[in-house]
Amino acid sequence: MRTTAAVLWELGGKWEVEEVELDPPAAGEVLVELTASGLCHSDEHLVTGDLPVAYPMVGGHEGAGRVVEVGPGVREVAVGDPVVMTFLPSCGRCSYCVRGYTALCDDGAGATLGPQLDGTYRFHARGEDVGQMCLLGTFARHTVVPVKSVVKIDEGFPLHLAALVGCGVTTGVGSAVRTAELRPGDTAVVVGIGGIGANAVQGARLAGCRYVVAVDPVGFKREKALELGATHVAASMDEAWNTVSSLTRGQLADAAILTTGVAEGAYLQPALQLVGKRGRVVVTRSATPTRTPRRSRCWS
Ligand SMILES: NC(=O)c1ccc[n+]([C@@H]2O[C@H](COP(=O)([O-])OP(=O)(O)OC[C@H]3O[C@@H](n4cnc5c(N)ncnc54)[C@H](O)[C@@H]3O)[C@@H](O)[C@H]2O)c1
Ligand SMILES: [Zn+2]
Ligand SMILES: [Zn+2]
Repeated sequence: MRTTAAVLWELGGKWEVEEVELDPPAAGEVLVELTASGLCHSDEHLVTGDLPVAYPMVGGHEGAGRVVEVGPGVREVAVGDPVVMTFLPSCGRCSYCVRGYTALCDDGAGATLGPQLDGTYRFHARGEDVGQMCLLGTFARHTVVPVKSVVKIDEGFPLHLAALVGCGVTTGVGSAVRTAELRPGDTAVVVGIGGIGANAVQGARLAGCRYVVAVDPVGFKREKALELGATHVAASMDEAWNTVSSLTRGQLADAAILTTGVAEGAYLQPALQLVGKRGRVVVTRSATPTRTPRRSRCWS
């Protein structure tokens, strides 16, 4: 079928919205008509090269919509079902999935490289195969994805909100609740209040933190953080240190969660200084790569 997608053709290029060819779903795949797609900083990393991929690529990995066709063997969802797409697939059978670490599913190993799990492509344009960000490519009217990458949701839930659960909400809340293991009474510092940080702030509140200090140089982000549950804000990690030190009478934070746009080594030292005894520093950011991507399923 023909559909429309935003394709990135080269490093440093622009997203080109154009007509593309989309294959029907193969075994274990579904065709989804998108209702909404989020834009995560990881999509911008495709443009800057901070996330290594092979081009061309349909961007987007936060999407929600309805199933319009299922491939052979698909029983988990049916035509018409509302679904959220998850930025990593979950097979439910590998050693990570069965231990509950579905975000580490073996099938996610090459998810950002472009082709589908069988190594072939569903999107085609200008005579070339076109990859899909995180096996999804949600910057499109329609996409074909593994059924392992969709989660059926209740009828009636607003799909434009559900889309954000595919990456930003789960990553941010998970950084606070699971990785930082925040508990009632704890003090947390969230550094970088974008899509991920805003959800880490909410995760810290859900975990019952007494103090949640949100750090961002942008005033608007600090205002939003207060609306979302931060108890205090700071424009820099240095400023946050003074706040945290005084709030905790020198004990410092239980966790600092780094969610700025790009990981830089220089951020680690001030982050380590923000936490006290048994403190955790969680880095939820993509760092500039030192390796070249390959068009294969596995990193090697
Ligand atoms: N599963 C994952 O590991 C995962 C998932 C999604 C996103 N990410 C990564 O998380 C990071 C954040 O993504 P996002 O979509 O929230 O980005 P974003 O661009 O929406 O937000 C980044 C925020 O950091 C702030 N910032 C920049 N420099 C800062 C500094 N020195 N101190 C404090 N704040 C600073 C910016 O003002 C901005 O508000 C990206 O690197 C992204 O690739 C990781
Ligand atoms: Zn993302
Ligand atoms: Zn798995």
